Amino acid sequence: MNYIIVKDYDDLSRKAANIIASQVILKPGCVLGLATGSSPVGTYTKLSEMCASGDVDFSKVTSVNLDEYEGLDGTNDQSYRYFMDKNLFDKINIDKKNTYVPNGCAADLKKEGEEYDALIKSLGGIDIQLLGIGLDGHIGFNEPDEFFTKETHAVELDPSTIEANSRFFASIDDVPKRAITMGMMSIMQAKKILLIANGKNKKEILDKALTGPITPMVPASILQLHPDLTVIYSEN
Ligand code: F6R
Repeated sequence: MNYIIVKDYDDLSRKAANIIASQVILKPGCVLGLATGSSPVGTYTKLSEMCASGDVDFSKVTSVNLDEYEGLDGTNDQSYRYFMDKNLFDKINIDKKNTYVPNGCAADLKKEGEEYDALIKSLGGIDIQLLGIGLDGHIGFNEPDEFFTKETHAVELDPSTIEANSRFFASIDDVPKRAITMGMMSIMQAKKILLIANGKNKKEILDKALTGPITPMVPASILQLHPDLTVIYSEN
């Protein structure tokens, strides 16, 4: 594991963007696994700047996102599809047809999950997966549980996740209670994983995940088994 401690969020974002950009430069047709939430916003801003300056070309890239709220479609400004469009896809020269986010409005989420996994497989897997970490140790929306779930699947969000994510909504009652998330198989089969975390409140769970027992009660702890994991942490 590479564990990089940086001075602030800007530094974290620049380093994460450089790592993703180098992946795209080395393999223009790569598959990027992407995350939402506040952690990657700065990284996406930097990648957008690198694209505008001509340093990175996303025209051949395919992306697969980790997760989506159940019942929110891409026109809803709280959906993760909307987030990705606004924070990254609308600002870079990626072909939107090649950007995938699980469909939280699918009539059959089990089938949607199976199709999402089949899609990732057909793309040859993920070259680099960007992850944030939840305060309960979740990655994607793989919440603490008695077992790790391999496949893309529907989940009940943990009360602590609903509470944490309520900062993006008008009220906590508006936060969807369920979501669809990539499972541990596609995440762990990514060739490289880049986990970013900022803020003092993330330190305890990050330490637990990276050095504690590997347990589904701390979903991110499974990352200890990944052969090419980079973690970037900033206190601020
Ligand atoms: C979002 C995702 C989540 C977030 C996590 C941290 O696609 O997969 O696991 O990465 O909830 O969120 P922030 O970055 O908002 O602290």
